[in-house]
Amino acid sequence: MTRQATTVEQIEEQEGGSPDLLATDAEHAQRARPIPRISIQAFCEVGDTAEVLQVAAEDRRLAKTHVSIHMGGIHAAIAHYQENPTPNLIVIESTDERSDLLVQLDHLSEFCDAGTRVVVIGHHNDVILYRELLKRGVSEYLVAPITPLALMESLSNLYNSPDAEPVGSVIAFIGAKGGVGSSTICHNVAWSLSEQLKTNVIVADLDLAFGTAGLDFNQDPIQGIADALQSPERLDEMLLDRLLTKCSERLSIFAAPVVLDRDFDISGDACDVVIDVVRKHVPFVVVDLPHTWSPWVKRMLLQADEIVITAAPDLANLRNAKNIMDIVKASRNNDVPPRLVINMAGMPKRPEIAIKEFAAALGVEPLQVIEFDCENFGQASNNGQMVEEFSAKAKAAPLFRDLALTLSHRKDMRVEKKAKPPARGLSPLLQKLKLKR
Ligand SMILES: Nc1ncnc2c1ncn2[C@@H]1O[C@H](COP(=O)(O)OP(=O)(O)O)[C@@H](O)[C@H]1O
Ligand SMILES: [Mg+2]
Repeated sequence: MTRQATTVEQIEEQEGGSPDLLATDAEHAQRARPIPRISIQAFCEVGDTAEVLQVAAEDRRLAKTHVSIHMGGIHAAIAHYQENPTPNLIVIESTDERSDLLVQLDHLSEFCDAGTRVVVIGHHNDVILYRELLKRGVSEYLVAPITPLALMESLSNLYNSPDAEPVGSVIAFIGAKGGVGSSTICHNVAWSLSEQLKTNVIVADLDLAFGTAGLDFNQDPIQGIADALQSPERLDEMLLDRLLTKCSERLSIFAAPVVLDRDFDISGDACDVVIDVVRKHVPFVVVDLPHTWSPWVKRMLLQADEIVITAAPDLANLRNAKNIMDIVKASRNNDVPPRLVINMAGMPKRPEIAIKEFAAALGVEPLQVIEFDCENFGQASNNGQMVEEFSAKAKAAPLFRDLALTLSHRKDMRVEKKAKPPARGLSPLLQKLKLKR
């Protein structure tokens, strides 16, 4: 059974204090995964519910589905399916009480093809109704009002089996300009993610001609992501395994070919298929995008669970970051805005826009400000190491750790430093002395 905060099952559990009932939209957003290529037809009774469905239908998570929304509730549905075949999923809203609703549903079921799933949005928090619906094979009963994200989580649970490994989340990195350190940050965050969470991470290097994932992780793979993109339909677990390059126990790269004598015509569809296969195998797919703007780059950005824009604090970066931010925000109403990382701050002798002004102009606080540090970044890069591997004392090392935790939504799980014991003896005195100095 799916876990969904607005089901009666959990409302029932609430008496025992189910914490899931308090699920926020942010939590729904994190758990809702893309829904496969299915057809969904909804029959609503209330305008607000139709609006919720409309918002969901326009969301990136339903980009592959085909949704049609009708009014008229279950009566309209019955009339419709007497004449037409049923889709993969029917969403029925009903304001009816238990007995009426059950009679209507039994009637509807006479016209439902085998394999069609039914989700009911009801207006009564009625446990007996819920059980009766499940007995009749209804996939889920949600109690209105619901939010688009709660609905999407619910639908995604139907198609991403809770018994199977959850589908991994996709974090996409793009630079506001070339050379601002987007790939470096992408690789360091991916590495830190795999080390801190002890979880599998795949870095997909989509900078086919100039990608640096191979160099940064000191690998020289022969095969990689281009082979997958050229025939995405062939990509299965075995082939994926062959095409990946293992960099550490838990981190693999899907390396770019980095050759210039072959043309790679990347299509958005191919990228989609490849990333979909990859995310089935690992909890985190970290996508390193080139600094270009093409339909497939845009699509990869818009489809990602998290987006990180790296910018250096100058005018061109500000303009580009703003443009990317605007286009992404405009079509992702149910997602957090892209994250901003300011990199190479404080480069000697370079005039800079103050971080505060930069953030104000963009309307986003930077998630992290990373200083220019040519010694550690340069050496790490030359050695084919991550910054923290090269020097755990580098100022950027804890920042990468922090970014990794934030982007994976595990910040709360961070191993807290041992709480300091209450100050005793000399320490308050020493503190004071330190302050005076
Ligand atoms: N904070 C930093 N301080 C100094 N050098 C950096 C910093 N961040 C990145 N670099 C260096 O900048 C260069 C370009 O980085 P890269 O990640 O390839 O940029 P992008 O992917 O945005 O084109 C690399 O040599 C990298 O080591
Ligand atoms: Mg790059």
